[in-house]
Amino acid sequence: MNLINREIDRHLLANSGEPPILYEAAYHLIRAGGKRLRSLLILLSCEAVGGKIEEVLPITVAAELIQTASLIRDDMMDCDDYRRGVETVHKKYGNNLALLAADLLIAQGVWMVGQYGTTELLRHVGAAGVDMCEGEALDVLTEKKADEDLSLERYIDTVKRKTVAFIDASTKIGSMTGKGTEAQQEVLGQYAESLGIAFQIRDDVMDITSSREVTGKSVRSDLRWIRSNYPLIVALESCSRERRTECLDALSKGSIDCALDLIRETGAIEAAMKTAEDYVQSAKVALQRERFPNQSLLEELADSVLQRDY
Ligand code: IPE
Ligand code: IPE
Ligand code: MG
Ligand code: MG
Repeated sequence: MNLINREIDRHLLANSGEPPILYEAAYHLIRAGGKRLRSLLILLSCEAVGGKIEEVLPITVAAELIQTASLIRDDMMDCDDYRRGVETVHKKYGNNLALLAADLLIAQGVWMVGQYGTTELLRHVGAAGVDMCEGEALDVLTEKKADEDLSLERYIDTVKRKTVAFIDASTKIGSMTGKGTEAQQEVLGQYAESLGIAFQIRDDVMDITSSREVTGKSVRSDLRWIRSNYPLIVALESCSRERRTECLDALSKGSIDCALDLIRETGAIEAAMKTAEDYVQSAKVALQRERFPNQSLLEELADSVLQRDY
């Protein structure tokens, strides 16, 4: 974490330009922190296959720049006011600068992968970005009337694109740079997929059960906008047709109490956490197909996905 943050600080210091307000907007959320999960995955995957982490360190900065860009846009779509304990970029600087800040971060990220990586890495980053856009589109286009939109099948498809793709690309970046074998890369990819789904389910749970003070970001957005949210989908699938319609109608009028009651009554939070635990378990089982020297750290990272409260 220290290595990553130091590298990010170096990047921010060395790369500011005109007009200053654009860079202030672009660096606002990066400076506010973040869990740096994708960067940690890059470093641990590189280490797992016997690579030197210094070689891949500059790419972690690119990953965080692109991750932050995706959050700037996500917050605009969700009309959220807080992220990482501070105001969101569009709230503080307005929509125009927020869009440009996100574009600037993506451009810097691409520049850095070009500078420090390989064409193959660039291809993986680009492909993950395409998946992320598709997943975010599926998420915002969730239609309350269409049953298939609020189904578990559609949920997994959405999450694989919006969240897993970039987490998977992170292990790929690390294991490719570390010159891991095909088999090692494959195993780390399986680990990433299960970890990513567990991560998003935990995020969905926090959207419902937690507060802005604890998570640092706006909560209940998934309900306000009827987004693809695991406990919500489980709750809607375990009630009568009538109740489902009643809840969805209330949600579309902006009232979330009916959905909160339904989630409580159906035990959807507990069911979601159980499913997330199963995914974390699968992530750990996947690791056993190879012998990684830092296996216990990779396992700990998988566990942290469930234990996190922000
Ligand atoms: C938020 O990602 C978007 C999701 C995929 C849920 P993180 O929860 O990793 O956000 P930061 O980078 O730690 O702020
Ligand atoms: C967004 O998912 C995931 C991205 C790819 C940006 P969410 O909408 O659940 O993320 P949060 O909860 O706002 O962090
Ligand atoms: Mg959001
Ligand atoms: Mg969320």
